Amino acid sequence: MPDTMPTDMQVAEGCYMIGRRNPDSVLQCNTYLRTFHGGGTDFHWCVDPGSLMDYSTIRTNLLNRIGEFAALNLVSMNHQDPDVTGNLLNFTRENPKLTGLIAEDAWRLVRHLNAIPKELWFANKVENRSIRLPGGQRLQMVPTPFCHFRGAVAFYDPESQILFSGDLFGGLNSPGRIQLYAQEDDWPGIAQFHQIYMPTREVVARAVRLTRTLDPPVKIIAPQHGFVLTGEIMHEFLNRLERLPMGIDMLPDALDERYHKLYAEVFQETIGEVSRWLGASEVRSILQHLPRDHELANYIRISGNEIHLERNGIRALPLLMDVVALGQGPAFREMLKDRILRHCLERGVPLPQMGVGVEETGAEPPGYWLG
Ligand SMILES: [Fe+2]
Ligand SMILES: [Fe+2]
Repeated sequence: MPDTMPTDMQVAEGCYMIGRRNPDSVLQCNTYLRTFHGGGTDFHWCVDPGSLMDYSTIRTNLLNRIGEFAALNLVSMNHQDPDVTGNLLNFTRENPKLTGLIAEDAWRLVRHLNAIPKELWFANKVENRSIRLPGGQRLQMVPTPFCHFRGAVAFYDPESQILFSGDLFGGLNSPGRIQLYAQEDDWPGIAQFHQIYMPTREVVARAVRLTRTLDPPVKIIAPQHGFVLTGEIMHEFLNRLERLPMGIDMLPDALDERYHKLYAEVFQETIGEVSRWLGASEVRSILQHLPRDHELANYIRISGNEIHLERNGIRALPLLMDVVALGQGPAFREMLKDRILRHCLERGVPLPQMGVGVEETGAEPPGYWLG
């Protein structure tokens, strides 16, 4: 497999994902090109200009589609993050006549890139939340506050029935899983992405309900990360996201209040399995001889032959994996990780930060900072 895929990927008629697919990354950044026909000339709209790291691929794919930068009419931005707006300066340099579309709250921050499109449309000020394009089509503004930025705005294209949703509905991917459309196996990465980057379930549930009300109904969701959603799996994942705890819902106290009993079951099952593999006395010995200041010691209690989870299961499970897998080799660790995640999924509890890709950064995953 090449290390990047230089060619673009078709999302639907007139819509391409022109970003870089990188099998080594767990965070694919999607840039889209949507072309509208009619009105005498084509209208080319780029959704999220993307990361500076991906510029050469995006530029090549864009020019292959539209011939020259001057043909690009509009660039929209969901919010201000560097993976979304990093290329804005490149875009405005290559096309000084470009029009930008973004919410005012995000623009206040993006303007520090010193990249000023010739015209700027503020999404929050668009009359009736709808822009009429030269060919007669409409672009609908769909504000999704706090998903994840205060001024985040998704864009709905009623002609193709595609919702360009920004970070909302995006996902992490396992290394190498870089196909365009989401499959069931991609759910843990989508769940984790929301658990890390969205502030709370409430705002995402609101955005899900809003998505369901769009008219005509949404057929495709094209997020800025990971996978495009469509069909049955799109509805299924929206249902799951509506119920998924994320952000501050996952502070340890809040999780313990709701899920302690279920995490304790996962913990017991995992201890049972590891005991069968390594021997019960070996497992007990590892846990009894944890270094005095080891964090896991705060969350478990050992009495006689019994080992119990006392609190903070979401943190205790990856720590348990770390201590029992030490020196056992990567296959053992992978198997254990897989078992723990499966037990959590079976019970519908929020997944610990040990799943899809989050480990590859080599740094403590963001979820751990929640204390
Ligand atoms: Fe973001
Ligand atoms: Fe993003």
